[in-house]
Amino acid sequence: MNTLKCALAGAAIMLPASAMADELNLICSADVVICERLVTEFESSHPDTDVNMVRMSSGEAYAKIRAEARNPQTDLWWGGTGDPHLQAGHDGLTAEYKSPMLAELQDWAQGQAEVSDFRTVGVYSGALGWGYNKELFAEKGITAPECWADLLDPALKGEIQIADPNSSGTAYTTLATLVQLMGEDEAFDFLKKMHANVSQYTKSGSAPVKAAARGETGLGIVFQHDAVAQAVSGFPIGVVAPCEGTGYEIGSMSMIEGAQNPEAAKTFYDWVLTAEVQNMMPEAGSFQIPSNASATPPEEAPDLSTIKLIDYDFAEYGSAERRKALLARWDDEIGSLPLQ
Ligand code: G6P
Repeated sequence: MNTLKCALAGAAIMLPASAMADELNLICSADVVICERLVTEFESSHPDTDVNMVRMSSGEAYAKIRAEARNPQTDLWWGGTGDPHLQAGHDGLTAEYKSPMLAELQDWAQGQAEVSDFRTVGVYSGALGWGYNKELFAEKGITAPECWADLLDPALKGEIQIADPNSSGTAYTTLATLVQLMGEDEAFDFLKKMHANVSQYTKSGSAPVKAAARGETGLGIVFQHDAVAQAVSGFPIGVVAPCEGTGYEIGSMSMIEGAQNPEAAKTFYDWVLTAEVQNMMPEAGSFQIPSNASATPPEEAPDLSTIKLIDYDFAEYGSAERRKALLARWDDEIGSLPLQ
């Protein structure tokens, strides 16, 4: 809140209601740079609204919304992977809303709305993979892995970072992808073996490739567009789409049930689905595929039509039972293992 608006809020009793600024409490689960850019653009085009934004990973955001269910402090949740948005919808934590913008969206974005009874909607999409530091690999004589199976190579010991699927939607998408590619027991067996090569499970999904860009680790398992973002910023990052096939996200947006500022939330919701706003995302280093069918996918965005994508079952892996059970098993069998 700026000083003037603060002063106005303080003097509320003396002022007519029209002098008070509207508020919007926003959780943003994509990269902080795009989150800040959206807030700046929204506030400059809607000068009567102050946006209080907090950046949280997808799983963390879900946990916060759940904890606040009786007294919601959040109005709108933009971005982050779709699975926890679907779980929140299933739990009745998010509100049904049919935006007038729906008809302008890609089928996959509308599908996300339909499967959730309009409690969430697709805002972008992108495929999973990894980014590796080409210079570091060359120096150490490590061959770049092209397939999930290659991530078990002992030459990668201590070189892999991935996020914790409890906090991160990226890491949960990875877990669900491996289960769909291999079968559940085989996926956990794979993760146990890969653990020998993992140096850290980070909180945020894109942190591993940021660490790889700085040479702090060799490889980060992330969405490919997050690896592209580092390469575009000039870091020696190679981007890989795994040979066996890979999963993808439908980054989503949900209004919170019982929100204190539903009108401001709707205004932001409709605004952020426009082609004009989505076309701005690459300027903030965000290279996902936009959900508005008239928006232009960034040139740098990995071309989903050339990537071997699995038929990711969003309804199944976004369901409360499946997500809870997979996370509990991950905690038991992977999260509890000591780091090497
Ligand atoms: C990055 C990606 C987004 C993704 C988000 C999930 O910001 O660019 O496309 O939705 O990660 O974040 P999380 O920290 O939950 O993995």
